[in-house]
Parts: sequence; structure tokens; C-alpha cells
Amino acid sequence: MKAEGHKISMLTAYDYTMASMLDDAGVDTILVGDSMAMVVQGHDTTLPVTLDEMIYHAEMVGRAVSRALTIVDLPFPTNHLGVHKTIEMAGRVLKETRCQAVKLEGGADQAEVIQALVSAGIPVMAHVGLRPQSIHTMGGYKVQRDEDLLLEDAKAAESAGAFGLLLECIPADFAQKVTNHLKIPTIGIGAGPHCDGQVLVVNDLLGLPCDYVPRFVKQYADLSTVIRNAASEYCSDVKNGTFPGDEHSFK
Ligand code: KIV
Repeated sequence: MKAEGHKISMLTAYDYTMASMLDDAGVDTILVGDSMAMVVQGHDTTLPVTLDEMIYHAEMVGRAVSRALTIVDLPFPTNHLGVHKTIEMAGRVLKETRCQAVKLEGGADQAEVIQALVSAGIPVMAHVGLRPQSIHTMGGYKVQRDEDLLLEDAKAAESAGAFGLLLECIPADFAQKVTNHLKIPTIGIGAGPHCDGQVLVVNDLLGLPCDYVPRFVKQYADLSTVIRNAASEYCSDVKNGTFPGDEHSFK
């Protein structure tokens, strides 16, 4: 798609119902993101989600998707446990779900791991710029402005065999330089319009409840209001006896 100049769309999904709808809607790539820790499990970082939990959700997503490429995040600290352990864990993702690739946070520091996974037949997307799994060393969810580090990470990930690169929270002109420099596609989130593709967390796109909406999010719907209104109408109907009606009852 990059070679042909077609932009790539990616959204996260964490269960069968959502993944089926996104696949039907024509989304190119579905990510079972470790953002699940925050938007599904209610944690305040992505750190607590486990490999077993990722696999449980990836299995639901994998079962729903017949068209899109499905990618699963390796949760913290999987890819820091050594090459063999990482192959074992990423191998479980491909064996136990129908998903086809993994994503890991890191660039130059993860080159050896990326190379080993790819040699083992496991396609890898690398994730550079803001890395939420390193939130405590990065000191917060901030725009990353070290252009040299970013370029070094991007080149290292490509040379190691990554098939794509996710760029999170970096200035748009850095993302443009990286995108022009690489043969593999870049997918941006908070990285401006020049990436080869874009990703959003599906809950943000749909306007589902969250504590904070980052500047890079565009909300395409307000499902939070729709769901609250539907639930409150249902409660009133039950309390005043207008649900169930005859049409919902058996004779
Ligand atoms: O886990 C996730 O949802 C991500 C986002 C950056 C898309 O990695």
C-alpha cells in the first residue's frame, strides 16, 4: 500500500463484536492493543495487562476478522525477557489466536529481538516515539522531540526486519522525515498527516467514556451519550411498566 501511495487505516479492537464491525467497515489493520489495560480493564497505565489476558482478547478478535491484518501488542515486559522467552511468548500469540503479527515497543534497543522473532516466522511491527510501557522512565505522556534518537530507532527497526513502524506522539515534520526515509510503512498516532497510515484507539474514536481525550483524537461519534440515554430510558420503562410490552411477551 505504501508503494502504491494508499494510506493505511488501523484501529484497535479487544473483542469479537467490535472486531467484526471494524472488519466489515473496511479497516485495513486491527490492533489488539495493550491500551486494553486502560480502556477495558480500567487501569491508569498499560503496564498491568498480562500475556494471558492479551491472548484471551486476541483470540476473540482473531475469530471475528476475515480480511484485515490483525496485530497483537506484546505486553510489558515480554520483549525484555531475552530473545528465547520473547519468541516463546510471541509464538503463543500466533499459535493460540488467529492473529498474524505482534507489535513491540522499542527500536534500536530491540533490534536483536525483532530480528530473532522475524527469523522465527513472527512478523513484527515496532513502536517508537512515545512508548507508554516506558511511561515511568519517560516521565509522562509527552510529545517526543529527540529527532536523532527517533531516526536511529526507525532505521534499526527496519534493518532488523520489522514490517512496519508505529510512531506515537512526535512532531509531524519528524514523522514525515522518518516516513520518507523508510521503505516499510509508518502508522501514526499523534504524529501528523504525513505517515503512511493512522491508528486510533477505537474507544476514543467512538466517544466512549474516558478520563482524558488527547489532542490527536478525532471523535467520530458520541456513543457514551447514546449508551447512557438508552440505559436510562430502559430503566424508566422497567420502573413504569412500559417494558416489556405485549410485543415482547409470549402467549
Ligand atoms: O495499545 C495501543 O492501543 C497502541 C496505540 C498507540 C494505538 O499501541
